[in-house]
Amino acid sequence: MGRRILFLGPPGAGKGTQAAMLATALGVPHVSTGVMLREAVAAGTELGKRAKSIMAGGDLVPDDLVVAIVEERLARDDAACGYLLDGFPRNVAQARALTAALGDDSVEVALLLEVDEDEIVDRLMKRAAEGRADDNEDTIRRRLEVYRQETEPMVAAYGDKVVAVDGMGAVDDVFAGVVRALV
Ligand code: AP5
Repeated sequence: MGRRILFLGPPGAGKGTQAAMLATALGVPHVSTGVMLREAVAAGTELGKRAKSIMAGGDLVPDDLVVAIVEERLARDDAACGYLLDGFPRNVAQARALTAALGDDSVEVALLLEVDEDEIVDRLMKRAAEGRADDNEDTIRRRLEVYRQETEPMVAAYGDKVVAVDGMGAVDDVFAGVVRALV
């Protein structure tokens, strides 16, 4: 089995950016629940219809829906040689579901991207022009709140699997830190 890496960190920390670069470098799939959910919303599927307003408000989509799409994705052949998880698991219940499905080795290392709150708001407000429904000031604040309440406790739950990476620099400098954290 190849590398099984989880990206943790607040909204706007650069999880998607770094996970895409690392997935290309390692040749493993980049599994982003945010991307999968936005695709479902754009396609107008049943999942997308249920997720749309929840995502626009910055809250978490119900665990059973998210766990189902991740289990389906990780069962595909390309994930047999490893994967990068971005945005999942996002709370302790999702982490338990992942462990129940794939075992304790389902996450080998959890990379925690650390970025100041001012920088997060700045990055996401800059991205607002791209039209993501959740990139507006109120929703950004709610997403940060949800992160602190629901997702941050996973840092303790993953214990010594967690490696902190400075996410404040330029994209390539952050990536160098990600690579260093994995050797
Ligand atoms: P999701 O898509 O996972 O969003 P998020 O966690 O809020 O993260 P972002 O995509 O905003 O940020 P990121 O850390 O990936 O950073 P990025 O690389 O994009 O989730 C969205 C919603 O879907 C959730 O709120 C929830 O409703 C739902 N959802 C998703 N997963 C779920 C789950 N498991 N359970 C329940 N609900 C779920 O970078 C951000 C911006 O900064 C970009 O413009 C980028 O170009 C820029 N940037 C990146 N790195 C740098 C850098 N080093 N310097 C300057 N700019 C940078």
